Amino acid sequence: MKLIFLGPPGAGKGTMAARVKEYLGIPHISTGNLFRENVAEKTQLGMQVKEIMEQGNLVPDDLTIAIVKERLSRPDAEKGFILDGFPRTILQAEALEKMTSIKHVLNLICPDRELIRRLTGRRFCPACGRSYHVEFIPPKQENICDDDGHQLSIRDDDTLEAVQNRLNVYMEKTRPLIEWYENRGLLRNIEADVPPDTVFERIQAVLNK
Ligand code: AP5
Repeated sequence: MKLIFLGPPGAGKGTMAARVKEYLGIPHISTGNLFRENVAEKTQLGMQVKEIMEQGNLVPDDLTIAIVKERLSRPDAEKGFILDGFPRTILQAEALEKMTSIKHVLNLICPDRELIRRLTGRRFCPACGRSYHVEFIPPKQENICDDDGHQLSIRDDDTLEAVQNRLNVYMEKTRPLIEWYENRGLLRNIEADVPPDTVFERIQAVLNK
């Protein structure tokens, strides 16, 4: 099954994509994680995108489309995948439409005040990318990833200033995709301002229809 997770920063796209990955046995492809890996490894791409990401702006479309095209061409993505954080602009959506066909676009809906609480309390695993929250979704052992035992980190773009910019960028560049996918009959709205298990049940209901 080929899925997209759409929604503002902090809506829970990464958290839910990780659960759906286990549920359906398909890869979770997060452009944010792919870029962060490049930044951590100090690749040429990583050097290009580091500052853009820290400020909460979007990486240029050509770089983003190229990284997704390469990732989707790998054998594990043949039967299905979960795209998390891509597309984020109409141009990216048009490029994706030429690459493959999508079954559902799961649009996670959550109010701004909750998004800010979620992002400022987020911790993530720099090794596997898994997200936690100090209050809402804590790891079993404080500050340690449940999956691989790595020490958790705070993302450089989870400062209040960068979060505010990311929300503005979302409103301007990404929100128009809601209508774009609605017009194609692919949009599935999920109210996500509820505990993670409830969000996951709502997603399962869509997937099992
Ligand atoms: P990216 O990594 O995609 O960040 P984002 O879209 O801003 O989304 P987040 O990862 O912040 O939020 P999320 O919805 O995944 O929430 P999460 O599950 O972690 O992108 C980062 C940057 O990379 C961009 O700013 C841009 O520079 C660049 N980039 C990436 N893709 C790009 C593209 N296509 N084009 C151009 N540039 C691109 O949850 C958040 C917190 O809430 C966590 O702490 C979590 O534990 C908690 N939480 C989750 N669900 C719940 C719940 N139901 N209840 C309570 N807490 C919850």
